[in-house]
Amino acid sequence: MINVAIFGFGVVGSGTAEVLTQNAKLISERVGEEINIKYILDLRDFPDSPFADKIVHDVNVIINDPEVKICAELMGGSHPAFEFSSAALKAGKSVVTSNKEVVATFGPELLKIAAENNVRYLFEASVGGGIPVIHPIGNCLTANDITEVNGILNGTTNYILTQMINEHKDFDTALAEAQEKGYAERDPSADVDGIDTCRKIAILSAIAFGKLVPPDKVKTEGIRGVTLRDVANAEKFGASIKLIGKAVRVDGKVSACVCPTLVRHSNPLSSISDVYNGVLVNGNAIGDVMFYGRGAGKLPTASAVVSDIIEIATYLSHPVHTTQVWERLTDDEILPADRLKSRWYLRFDKKPSHCLASLGAEVIEDAPDSYAVVTDEVTLLDVGITVSEKFVAMRVL
Ligand code: HSE
Repeated sequence: MINVAIFGFGVVGSGTAEVLTQNAKLISERVGEEINIKYILDLRDFPDSPFADKIVHDVNVIINDPEVKICAELMGGSHPAFEFSSAALKAGKSVVTSNKEVVATFGPELLKIAAENNVRYLFEASVGGGIPVIHPIGNCLTANDITEVNGILNGTTNYILTQMINEHKDFDTALAEAQEKGYAERDPSADVDGIDTCRKIAILSAIAFGKLVPPDKVKTEGIRGVTLRDVANAEKFGASIKLIGKAVRVDGKVSACVCPTLVRHSNPLSSISDVYNGVLVNGNAIGDVMFYGRGAGKLPTASAVVSDIIEIATYLSHPVHTTQVWERLTDDEILPADRLKSRWYLRFDKKPSHCLASLGAEVIEDAPDSYAVVTDEVTLLDVGITVSEKFVAMRVL
């Protein structure tokens, strides 16, 4: 029997307990041993839960119990999740997590502690919810020089944008619906301001390029500024607006950004709707590969958490020799996003007084109160130098 502990009995924590219990028979057949939930750590009590007798309030009960071999940190937030994970790894327990904030911020430290203690730190559920992305990119594509990753990495914002595109609902109505359905983070700004996507693309940058772009170096913009007018203009141009996390290698440097993007209908990411996520990876041997599926929700996310538990449990008696360690990219190794070329959608409140010809601008809308163009491939720096009026800018993919 392999004992595990769950840190945090929220949506993903309870989903993980549910999957481990419901699929116990097939999981024990696959692992070759039964997986037993010994403890669930939470500040609250859950007297009506079938797991009520597993609840503990003191993390040290778990850390000091040598029978616990695997901890699933499903608490969210940086603290005390980092400290608890670090204590568990130092006590010789492997840790799995869905916590993208901790992985993006403290991944280098936690992977190092795991390596030093011959245990594993796995985080498949931290990006793309239930979609396998971390393992496939980190293991199955290692023969490739990966040049670019673009992803719809946040289910809540994709749901909101889909409602705006298909149902012409305004942003607030669509956000309220996303919250009702339990997609949004506790604080929806993590979703709508792009912070959640920023953490996920930071993690993917480390998986794809071997070094982490620190989240504070990822230029991040959310979807609050997207209007129904932009949605209509995008459609006119043959594109759908998506919140895209992008990490790309250019001239030996890495650039990462998150911004609302006009994704042309020829790009497979443009058809990804509702809460679904998609990650498009380009490798020099394989070309484009896309991962698609449910990027949020209790059981999809638990699916990835439990898969990591199963992987660790299956090889528990084997020596650990594959733990990856990450470094952070330094400022010299990062290309600021405003130097990254792309076509740009620009919208002005009125027709700008000067000529946009030097940007190769194609006019999309020419109304008295709104003027929109799509430029040639230029940097945002070039746009800023050319244009003196206030404008909304979105990348084109
Ligand atoms: N709030 C996140 C989303 C949950 O909407 O995608 C999964 O990270």
